[in-house]
Amino acid sequence: MAILVTGGAGYIGSHLCLELLNAGYEVVVVDNNSTSSSDALKRVQEITRKSVTVYTVDLGKKEDLLDVFSNHTISSVIHLAGYKSVSESSSIPLTYYANNIMSTLILCEVMQMFNVKSLVFSSSATVYAPTEKNEPISESHPLGAINPYGHTKQVIEEILRYLFYSDPSWSICMLRYFNPVGAHDSGQIGENPKGIPNNLVPYITNVAAGLLPALSIYGNDYPTRDGTGIRDYIHVVDLAQGHISALKKVETTTGINAYNLGTGKGYSVLEMVRSFQNVSGREIPYIIAPRRKGDIAVSFADVTKAKEELGWEAKRGIDAMCMDAWRWQRANPSNSALV
Ligand code: UD1
Repeated sequence: MAILVTGGAGYIGSHLCLELLNAGYEVVVVDNNSTSSSDALKRVQEITRKSVTVYTVDLGKKEDLLDVFSNHTISSVIHLAGYKSVSESSSIPLTYYANNIMSTLILCEVMQMFNVKSLVFSSSATVYAPTEKNEPISESHPLGAINPYGHTKQVIEEILRYLFYSDPSWSICMLRYFNPVGAHDSGQIGENPKGIPNNLVPYITNVAAGLLPALSIYGNDYPTRDGTGIRDYIHVVDLAQGHISALKKVETTTGINAYNLGTGKGYSVLEMVRSFQNVSGREIPYIIAPRRKGDIAVSFADVTKAKEELGWEAKRGIDAMCMDAWRWQRANPSNSALV
Protein backbone atom coordinates (compact mmCIF):
# COMPACT_ATOMS: atom_id res chain seq x y z
CA MET A 1 0.00 0.00 0.00
CA ALA A 2 1.37 3.40 -0.95
CA ILE A 3 0.66 7.03 -0.16
CA LEU A 4 0.25 9.21 -3.23
CA VAL A 5 1.67 12.71 -2.78
CA THR A 6 0.69 15.21 -5.47
CA GLY A 7 3.13 18.09 -5.73
CA GLY A 8 5.64 15.94 -3.86
CA ALA A 9 8.70 17.52 -5.52
CA GLY A 10 7.99 21.01 -4.16
CA TYR A 11 9.10 22.79 -1.02
CA ILE A 12 6.53 21.30 1.35
CA GLY A 13 6.19 18.10 -0.69
CA SER A 14 9.87 17.18 -0.51
CA HIS A 15 9.94 17.65 3.28
CA LEU A 16 6.75 15.62 3.55
CA CYS A 17 8.16 12.77 1.44
CA LEU A 18 11.23 12.68 3.65
CA GLU A 19 9.11 12.37 6.81
CA LEU A 20 6.84 9.77 5.20
CA LEU A 21 9.81 7.63 4.17
CA ASN A 22 11.35 7.94 7.64
CA ALA A 23 8.02 6.86 9.12
CA GLY A 24 8.11 3.72 6.94
CA TYR A 25 5.51 4.61 4.30
CA GLU A 26 5.80 3.63 0.64
CA VAL A 27 5.60 6.87 -1.34
CA VAL A 28 4.46 7.60 -4.89
CA VAL A 29 4.79 11.17 -6.17
CA VAL A 30 2.97 12.90 -9.00
CA ASP A 31 4.44 16.28 -9.95
CA ASN A 32 4.55 18.21 -13.22
CA ASN A 33 7.71 20.04 -12.06
CA SER A 34 6.16 23.39 -13.00
CA THR A 35 7.55 25.08 -9.89
CA SER A 36 9.92 22.39 -8.69
CA SER A 37 12.71 20.19 -9.95
CA SER A 38 13.49 16.51 -9.60
CA ASP A 39 16.65 17.35 -7.59
CA ALA A 40 14.80 17.71 -4.30
CA LEU A 41 13.47 14.16 -4.41
CA LYS A 42 16.87 12.79 -5.42
CA ARG A 43 18.24 14.39 -2.28
CA VAL A 44 15.37 13.06 -0.18
CA GLN A 45 16.25 9.56 -1.37
CA GLU A 46 19.93 10.12 -0.58
CA ILE A 47 19.14 11.36 2.94
CA THR A 48 16.68 8.58 3.76
CA ARG A 49 18.36 5.83 1.68
CA LYS A 50 14.87 4.88 0.60
CA SER A 51 13.24 5.27 -2.77
CA VAL A 52 10.23 7.19 -4.03
CA THR A 53 8.41 6.38 -7.26
CA VAL A 54 8.06 9.64 -9.17
CA TYR A 55 5.71 10.33 -12.07
CA THR A 56 6.25 13.55 -13.99
CA VAL A 57 2.60 13.90 -14.74
CA ASP A 58 0.12 16.76 -14.85
CA LEU A 59 -2.96 16.17 -12.73
CA GLY A 60 -5.00 17.73 -15.51
CA LYS A 61 -4.33 14.61 -17.62
CA LYS A 62 -6.79 12.06 -16.29
CA GLU A 63 -5.41 9.16 -18.36
CA ASP A 64 -1.95 9.65 -16.84
CA LEU A 65 -3.40 9.64 -13.36
CA LEU A 66 -5.41 6.50 -14.12
CA ASP A 67 -2.11 4.80 -15.00
CA VAL A 68 -0.58 5.80 -11.66
CA PHE A 69 -3.55 4.38 -9.76
CA SER A 70 -3.44 1.22 -11.88
CA ASN A 71 0.28 0.72 -11.22
CA HIS A 72 0.10 1.01 -7.42
CA THR A 73 -2.22 0.14 -4.58
CA ILE A 74 -2.83 3.61 -3.21
CA SER A 75 -4.30 3.73 0.31
CA SER A 76 -4.45 7.52 0.81
CA VAL A 77 -3.66 10.71 -1.07
CA ILE A 78 -1.95 13.86 0.19
CA HIS A 79 -2.83 16.58 -2.30
CA LEU A 80 -0.35 19.45 -2.34
CA ALA A 81 -0.12 20.21 -6.07
CA GLY A 82 -1.33 23.64 -7.10
CA TYR A 83 -0.31 27.14 -8.06
CA LYS A 84 0.55 29.10 -4.93
CA SER A 85 1.54 32.70 -5.60
CA VAL A 86 -0.88 35.25 -4.21
CA SER A 87 0.43 38.06 -6.44
CA GLU A 88 0.47 35.93 -9.60
CA SER A 89 -3.07 34.74 -8.87
CA SER A 90 -4.30 38.33 -8.98
CA SER A 91 -2.82 38.79 -12.49
CA ILE A 92 -4.00 35.46 -13.94
CA PRO A 93 -6.99 34.41 -11.83
CA LEU A 94 -8.56 32.17 -14.49
CA THR A 95 -5.36 30.15 -14.78
CA TYR A 96 -5.37 29.68 -11.00
CA TYR A 97 -9.03 28.63 -10.87
CA ALA A 98 -8.65 26.27 -13.84
CA ASN A 99 -5.48 24.64 -12.58
CA ASN A 100 -6.14 24.31 -8.86
CA ILE A 101 -9.80 23.37 -9.07
CA MET A 102 -9.76 21.17 -12.17
CA SER A 103 -6.80 19.15 -10.98
CA THR A 104 -8.55 18.51 -7.64
CA LEU A 105 -11.76 17.43 -9.41
CA ILE A 106 -9.87 15.01 -11.63
CA LEU A 107 -7.90 13.65 -8.69
CA CYS A 108 -11.07 13.04 -6.63
CA GLU A 109 -12.81 11.44 -9.59
CA VAL A 110 -9.94 9.01 -10.10
CA MET A 111 -9.74 8.32 -6.36
CA GLN A 112 -13.45 7.51 -6.37
CA MET A 113 -13.00 5.16 -9.35
CA PHE A 114 -10.36 3.23 -7.42
CA ASN A 115 -12.31 3.40 -4.16
CA VAL A 116 -9.56 5.45 -2.48
CA LYS A 117 -11.38 7.84 -0.16
CA SER A 118 -8.77 9.05 2.31
CA LEU A 119 -7.49 12.51 1.48
CA VAL A 120 -5.30 15.10 3.15
CA PHE A 121 -5.62 18.43 1.37
CA SER A 122 -3.16 21.32 1.46
CA SER A 123 -5.26 24.37 2.25
CA SER A 124 -4.12 27.72 3.58
CA ALA A 125 -4.82 30.26 6.30
CA THR A 126 -5.56 32.65 3.42
CA VAL A 127 -9.07 31.09 3.34
CA TYR A 128 -9.94 33.11 6.47
CA ALA A 129 -11.67 36.46 6.18
CA PRO A 130 -9.21 39.18 7.24
CA THR A 131 -9.70 40.36 10.80
CA GLU A 132 -8.58 43.43 12.71
CA LYS A 133 -8.81 41.54 15.99
CA ASN A 134 -5.53 40.66 17.67
CA GLU A 135 -6.71 37.14 18.51
CA PRO A 136 -5.74 33.63 17.46
CA ILE A 137 -7.72 32.43 14.45
CA SER A 138 -9.63 29.21 15.08
CA GLU A 139 -11.05 26.90 12.43
CA SER A 140 -14.53 28.33 13.06
CA HIS A 141 -13.41 31.84 12.03
CA PRO A 142 -15.47 33.00 9.00
CA LEU A 143 -14.01 32.16 5.62
CA GLY A 144 -13.50 34.94 3.08
CA ALA A 145 -10.34 34.76 1.00
CA ILE A 146 -9.40 38.09 -0.53
CA ASN A 147 -7.26 36.90 -3.42
CA PRO A 148 -7.80 34.31 -6.19
CA TYR A 149 -5.17 31.93 -4.81
CA GLY A 150 -6.84 31.80 -1.40
CA HIS A 151 -10.24 31.61 -3.04
CA THR A 152 -9.23 28.49 -5.01
CA LYS A 153 -8.40 26.86 -1.64
CA GLN A 154 -11.71 27.99 -0.16
CA VAL A 155 -13.69 26.69 -3.18
CA ILE A 156 -11.86 23.34 -3.05
CA GLU A 157 -12.65 23.03 0.68
CA GLU A 158 -16.33 23.58 -0.17
CA ILE A 159 -16.20 21.03 -3.01
CA LEU A 160 -14.67 18.49 -0.64
CA ARG A 161 -17.43 19.12 1.92
CA TYR A 162 -20.13 18.42 -0.67
CA LEU A 163 -18.23 15.37 -1.84
CA PHE A 164 -18.24 14.07 1.73
CA TYR A 165 -21.96 14.88 2.19
CA SER A 166 -22.70 12.87 -0.97
CA ASP A 167 -20.67 9.90 0.27
CA PRO A 168 -19.81 9.80 4.00
CA SER A 169 -17.36 6.97 3.47
CA TRP A 170 -14.79 9.63 2.50
CA SER A 171 -12.26 10.71 5.08
CA ILE A 172 -10.80 14.17 4.51
CA CYS A 173 -8.47 16.47 6.45
CA MET A 174 -7.97 19.99 5.13
CA LEU A 175 -4.83 21.56 6.55
CA ARG A 176 -4.77 25.34 6.76
CA TYR A 177 -1.11 26.31 6.77
CA PHE A 178 -0.01 29.56 8.35
CA ASN A 179 3.48 30.70 7.19
CA PRO A 180 5.75 27.74 6.37
CA VAL A 181 9.47 28.63 6.59
CA GLY A 182 12.84 26.99 7.25
CA ALA A 183 14.32 23.85 5.77
CA HIS A 184 15.43 20.35 6.67
CA ASP A 185 18.41 20.50 9.03
CA SER A 186 20.59 18.60 6.53
CA GLY A 187 20.65 21.77 4.39
CA GLN A 188 19.90 19.55 1.40
CA ILE A 189 16.29 20.52 0.72
CA GLY A 190 14.53 23.84 1.20
CA GLU A 191 12.52 26.56 -0.45
CA ASN A 192 13.67 27.57 -3.90
CA PRO A 193 11.46 30.39 -5.16
CA LYS A 194 11.86 31.37 -8.79
CA GLY A 195 12.89 35.01 -9.29
CA ILE A 196 12.96 37.61 -6.52
CA PRO A 197 11.30 36.11 -3.44
CA ASN A 198 7.93 37.51 -2.35
CA ASN A 199 7.96 35.96 1.08
CA LEU A 200 9.85 37.28 4.07
CA VAL A 201 12.26 34.48 5.01
CA PRO A 202 13.59 33.68 1.51
CA TYR A 203 14.07 37.42 0.99
CA ILE A 204 16.03 37.69 4.25
CA THR A 205 18.29 34.73 3.34
CA ASN A 206 19.01 36.32 -0.05
CA VAL A 207 19.96 39.60 1.65
CA ALA A 208 22.13 37.74 4.18
CA ALA A 209 23.92 36.00 1.31
CA GLY A 210 24.61 39.38 -0.34
CA LEU A 211 22.41 38.56 -3.34
CA LEU A 212 19.95 41.35 -2.64
CA PRO A 213 21.00 44.68 -1.10
CA ALA A 214 18.37 45.22 1.59
CA LEU A 215 15.06 43.98 2.91
CA SER A 216 12.06 46.26 2.45
CA ILE A 217 9.87 46.05 5.53
CA TYR A 218 6.34 46.64 4.33
CA GLY A 219 5.06 49.10 6.91
CA ASN A 220 6.01 49.94 10.50
CA ASP A 221 2.76 51.66 11.38
CA TYR A 222 0.58 48.61 12.03
CA PRO A 223 -1.16 48.41 15.42
CA THR A 224 1.35 45.80 16.67
CA ARG A 225 4.03 45.82 19.41
CA ASP A 226 6.71 47.25 17.08
CA GLY A 227 4.56 48.47 14.18
CA THR A 228 5.51 45.65 11.78
CA GLY A 229 3.26 42.80 10.65
CA ILE A 230 2.88 39.73 12.87
CA ARG A 231 2.63 36.20 11.43
CA ASP A 232 2.58 32.63 12.67
CA TYR A 233 5.73 31.15 11.10
CA ILE A 234 5.89 27.36 11.20
CA HIS A 235 8.95 25.23 10.54
CA VAL A 236 8.40 23.16 7.39
CA VAL A 237 9.48 19.94 9.16
CA ASP A 238 6.82 20.50 11.85
CA LEU A 239 4.36 21.17 9.03
CA ALA A 240 5.34 17.93 7.28
CA GLN A 241 4.88 16.00 10.52
CA GLY A 242 1.43 17.56 10.88
CA HIS A 243 0.50 15.90 7.57
CA ILE A 244 1.52 12.53 8.94
CA SER A 245 -0.73 13.02 11.97
CA ALA A 246 -3.56 13.98 9.59
CA LEU A 247 -2.80 10.94 7.44
CA LYS A 248 -3.18 8.69 10.48
CA LYS A 249 -6.56 10.28 11.12
CA VAL A 250 -7.89 9.81 7.58
CA GLU A 251 -6.62 6.24 7.57
CA THR A 252 -8.58 5.34 10.68
CA THR A 253 -11.81 7.40 10.65
CA THR A 254 -14.31 8.82 8.19
CA GLY A 255 -15.40 12.47 8.24
CA ILE A 256 -14.26 15.88 7.05
CA ASN A 257 -12.30 18.32 9.16
CA ALA A 258 -10.18 21.45 8.79
CA TYR A 259 -7.13 21.99 10.97
CA ASN A 260 -4.83 24.95 11.46
CA LEU A 261 -1.15 24.13 11.17
CA GLY A 262 0.79 26.86 12.93
CA THR A 263 2.67 27.30 16.18
CA GLY A 264 0.04 29.48 17.82
CA LYS A 265 2.67 32.21 18.33
CA GLY A 266 3.05 35.35 16.25
CA TYR A 267 6.34 37.09 15.47
CA SER A 268 6.82 40.51 13.91
CA VAL A 269 8.96 41.21 10.86
CA LEU A 270 11.53 42.96 13.07
CA GLU A 271 11.62 40.00 15.48
CA MET A 272 12.29 37.66 12.56
CA VAL A 273 15.08 39.93 11.32
CA ARG A 274 16.65 40.01 14.80
CA SER A 275 16.43 36.26 15.24
CA PHE A 276 17.96 35.74 11.82
CA GLN A 277 20.81 38.16 12.60
CA ASN A 278 21.50 36.37 15.90
CA VAL A 279 21.68 32.87 14.47
CA SER A 280 23.49 33.77 11.24
CA GLY A 281 25.84 36.44 12.56
CA ARG A 282 25.01 38.44 9.43
CA GLU A 283 23.56 41.91 9.44
CA ILE A 284 20.32 42.34 7.51
CA PRO A 285 20.16 45.89 6.15
CA TYR A 286 16.56 47.03 5.82
CA ILE A 287 14.47 49.99 4.82
CA ILE A 288 10.94 50.80 5.87
CA ALA A 289 8.72 50.74 2.79
CA PRO A 290 4.98 51.43 2.37
CA ARG A 291 2.51 48.72 3.39
CA ARG A 292 2.02 45.95 0.83
CA LYS A 293 -1.47 45.78 -0.66
CA GLY A 294 -3.51 42.94 0.80
CA ASP A 295 -1.41 42.55 3.97
CA ILE A 296 -3.05 42.51 7.38
CA ALA A 297 -1.51 43.50 10.71
CA VAL A 298 -1.70 40.23 12.61
CA SER A 299 -2.32 36.59 11.75
CA PHE A 300 -1.70 33.67 14.09
CA ALA A 301 -3.38 30.34 14.66
CA ASP A 302 -5.43 28.81 17.41
CA VAL A 303 -3.82 25.38 17.36
CA THR A 304 -6.03 23.69 19.95
CA LYS A 305 -7.99 21.56 17.47
CA ALA A 306 -4.92 20.03 15.82
CA LYS A 307 -3.43 19.31 19.23
CA GLU A 308 -6.59 17.67 20.59
CA GLU A 309 -7.76 15.79 17.51
CA LEU A 310 -4.53 15.04 15.63
CA GLY A 311 -2.24 14.82 18.65
CA TRP A 312 0.16 17.13 16.83
CA GLU A 313 1.88 20.36 17.76
CA ALA A 314 4.80 22.29 16.32
CA LYS A 315 8.05 21.86 18.24
CA ARG A 316 10.54 24.14 16.51
CA GLY A 317 10.88 27.84 17.39
CA ILE A 318 11.96 30.85 15.33
CA ASP A 319 15.66 30.43 15.97
CA ALA A 320 15.54 26.91 14.47
CA MET A 321 13.44 28.23 11.57
CA CYS A 322 15.98 30.97 10.83
CA MET A 323 19.03 28.76 11.38
CA ASP A 324 17.75 26.03 9.06
CA ALA A 325 16.72 28.55 6.38
CA TRP A 326 20.23 30.04 6.56
CA ARG A 327 21.94 26.62 6.44
CA TRP A 328 19.95 25.81 3.29
CA GLN A 329 20.84 29.14 1.66
CA ARG A 330 24.55 28.72 2.43
CA ALA A 331 24.66 25.14 1.19
CA ASN A 332 22.86 26.08 -2.02
CA PRO A 333 24.15 29.50 -3.05
CA SER A 334 22.45 29.25 -6.42
CA ASN A 335 19.04 29.38 -4.73
CA SER A 336 18.68 33.05 -5.28
CA ALA A 337 16.79 35.69 -7.10
CA LEU A 338 19.63 36.85 -9.21
CA VAL A 339 21.39 33.81 -10.59
C1 UD1 B 1 1.96 34.87 2.09
C2 UD1 B 1 0.69 34.58 1.38
C3 UD1 B 1 0.09 33.31 1.90
C4 UD1 B 1 1.08 32.17 1.82
C5 UD1 B 1 2.34 32.56 2.57
C6 UD1 B 1 3.41 31.50 2.39
C7 UD1 B 1 -0.09 36.87 0.89
C8 UD1 B 1 -1.15 37.89 1.14
N1 UD1 B 1 -0.22 35.71 1.55
O1 UD1 B 1 1.62 35.17 3.43
O2 UD1 B 1 -1.04 32.98 1.15
O3 UD1 B 1 0.53 31.01 2.39
O4 UD1 B 1 2.85 33.78 2.04
O5 UD1 B 1 4.44 31.69 3.32
O6 UD1 B 1 0.85 37.09 0.15
N2 UD1 B 1 7.29 41.23 4.47
C9 UD1 B 1 8.16 42.30 4.43
N3 UD1 B 1 9.08 42.33 3.40
C10 UD1 B 1 9.16 41.37 2.45
C11 UD1 B 1 8.26 40.28 2.50
C12 UD1 B 1 7.33 40.25 3.53
O7 UD1 B 1 8.11 43.19 5.28
O8 UD1 B 1 10.01 41.48 1.54
C13 UD1 B 1 6.32 41.14 5.59
C14 UD1 B 1 4.87 41.14 5.16
O9 UD1 B 1 4.35 42.43 5.06
C15 UD1 B 1 4.22 40.32 6.29
C16 UD1 B 1 5.33 39.35 6.70
O10 UD1 B 1 6.55 39.91 6.23
O11 UD1 B 1 3.95 41.13 7.40
C17 UD1 B 1 5.18 37.96 6.06
O12 UD1 B 1 5.04 38.10 4.66
P1 UD1 B 1 5.11 36.82 3.68
O13 UD1 B 1 6.27 35.99 4.03
O14 UD1 B 1 5.01 37.33 2.28
O15 UD1 B 1 3.84 35.97 4.08
P2 UD1 B 1 2.27 36.41 4.11
O16 UD1 B 1 2.03 37.64 3.33
O17 UD1 B 1 1.81 36.38 5.53
